[in-house]
Amino acid sequence: MKFLPLLVASIGFGAAAWPGRQQTQIVIITGDADGNLAPCGCTKPQTGGIKRRIAAVKQFSLPGHTTLLDNGNFVAGTGRQDQIKAQTMAEILGAAGWDAINVGPADARLGMGLLLSMNGLANGKFVASQLQPSPDSGLQQFSVSPPFLVIGVAAQPETVGQPLGQVASPMDDAVKAGIEQAKADNLAPVALLQGTREDSLQLASRFPDLKLISYRSVGSPPEKMEFAGATALVSPGSDGKYLLRMEYRGGKFSNYAAIAFGPQYKDDPTAARQFRNYLTRVRTEKLVEKLPRLSNDAYMGSLACGKCHSTATHVWKASLHTHALATLAARGEDRDPECLPCHVVGLSSSRGFRSPAETPDLAGVGCESCHGPGSAHSASPRNVRIPKVTETACLNCHTSNTSPGFSFPAYWKKIKH
Ligand code: HEC
Ligand code: HEC
Ligand code: HEC
Ligand code: HEC
Repeated sequence: MKFLPLLVASIGFGAAAWPGRQQTQIVIITGDADGNLAPCGCTKPQTGGIKRRIAAVKQFSLPGHTTLLDNGNFVAGTGRQDQIKAQTMAEILGAAGWDAINVGPADARLGMGLLLSMNGLANGKFVASQLQPSPDSGLQQFSVSPPFLVIGVAAQPETVGQPLGQVASPMDDAVKAGIEQAKADNLAPVALLQGTREDSLQLASRFPDLKLISYRSVGSPPEKMEFAGATALVSPGSDGKYLLRMEYRGGKFSNYAAIAFGPQYKDDPTAARQFRNYLTRVRTEKLVEKLPRLSNDAYMGSLACGKCHSTATHVWKASLHTHALATLAARGEDRDPECLPCHVVGLSSSRGFRSPAETPDLAGVGCESCHGPGSAHSASPRNVRIPKVTETACLNCHTSNTSPGFSFPAYWKKIKH
């Protein structure tokens, strides 16, 4: 992870001393959080997350001289939790003063009703340049945010149009219209593009008047700003872990930095409150209670195994696995269906974890998280054997994202029994 140096001191602010067009405008670009509201990964140092994003944005903004842009795709899915997340994200960006948010395919898939509620929460800042502008939709065709006019497009128009029940116009038509309006209003046209780097290169060659294109990419952002002719090409990367900050002055972008949200950014208090509200909604809407139970695997809890396996129980009790639910509870995330599967026993079974009160022996990572359901074995240990556990069992939970430092020999040593 790279933390590029910031050249804040070098910004040419003589505020009033400069003639208008020499004014430096700071541009901050985010996007494609893909549902990662909380910091990614379960190991320290965690990166990303919306609370840190807002703290970083505030640190790098200059009030009155900053444009905040987001390329959309707030969430990855369309379930109830995704809906709540998308609204939370819109509310957080709205409160933090975002100027324009592109409608990405993932946002469109949430449906027009939800998108409009998101647009309301974000102070009407969503832009969909390929949709028919209509007064009741409230979605802007372009976002005017001097010195910029922001165009929001998708390289495949149907990915945005179809889920919203509209025929979206071709990307080039929308970009052309945006550039014309920008010229008429003496603004600099910039495009938020749901498309690849290749798409952005082609777009820049067809529309050299575009000052900047922000495209979608996977992983971390490029270390440098790229230029196609005079058009700057940038991408904030995936999973909401980075922001891009650059300066616009005299018609040109410069002083680019891709900034990762490491732990040096303390949670923004307003965003933290909005995030707590999100967790409260997940809790009060009883999303854990509503989870489909796909199997009837008979779990019985670690306490029962302990009657016959004292050594293993002793080791387990001293391990962090025992506390896995407490770890979530300490953060208020103990009723979050996105976290519980790896932090309790048997969440997908009708006879698995429900709540600490109903199923106290299935809270945390237990014997059966690795060994599998053990009721039959407990009733008749010599007749029903427990299959051998291998490293594969660990990898269900210790993924490259949640446990990047995982190695079986080293980790097993800590809990060998
Ligand atoms: C059901 C999910 C799950 C499975 C399966 C699982 N773990 Fe874990 N493991 C966790 C969670 C969650 C934590 C963090 C607990 C906490 O800190 O609250 C953890 C923590 C650990 C730790 C503590 C890390 C530390 O920093 O001390 C070790 C060691 C460990 N696991 C080893 C293993 C091994 C070895 C396997 C496979 C044999 C395994 N785990 C299987 C979920 C799992
Ligand atoms: C795919 C399984 C999985 C999911 C889903 C998961 N975790 Fe974890 N979590 C783990 C594992 C494995 C560890 C232990 C990592 C290690 O020590 O290497 C862990 C550890 C943690 C820790 C302890 C970190 C530390 O270093 O002290 C926290 C906090 C945590 N998880 C929070 C969460 C939250 C919040 C969510 C939901 C947003 C979540 N986890 C979802 C598997 C998971
Ligand atoms: C993090 C995963 C994990 C957890 C939790 C866990 N085990 Fe194990 N256990 C293993 C692995 C891996 C082995 C060694 C491989 C094997 O022999 O199956 C093992 C071995 C054993 C063995 C010895 C098997 C043999 O053939 O010698 C027993 C008995 C056992 N575990 C019981 C328990 C009990 C009881 C608990 C809960 C108190 C528990 N385990 C918790 C992963 C786990
Ligand atoms: C009533 C006592 C009893 C209970 C309860 C019990 N076990 Fe066992 N377990 C045994 C005995 C006895 C053996 C040894 C079987 C043999 O070697 O013939 C055994 C063997 C095992 C083994 C080695 C593999 C095998 O099947 O031989 C594992 C792993 C294991 N138990 C895990 C568990 C887990 C996990 C639980 C709780 C879900 C559990 N046991 C509950 C008595 C029990």
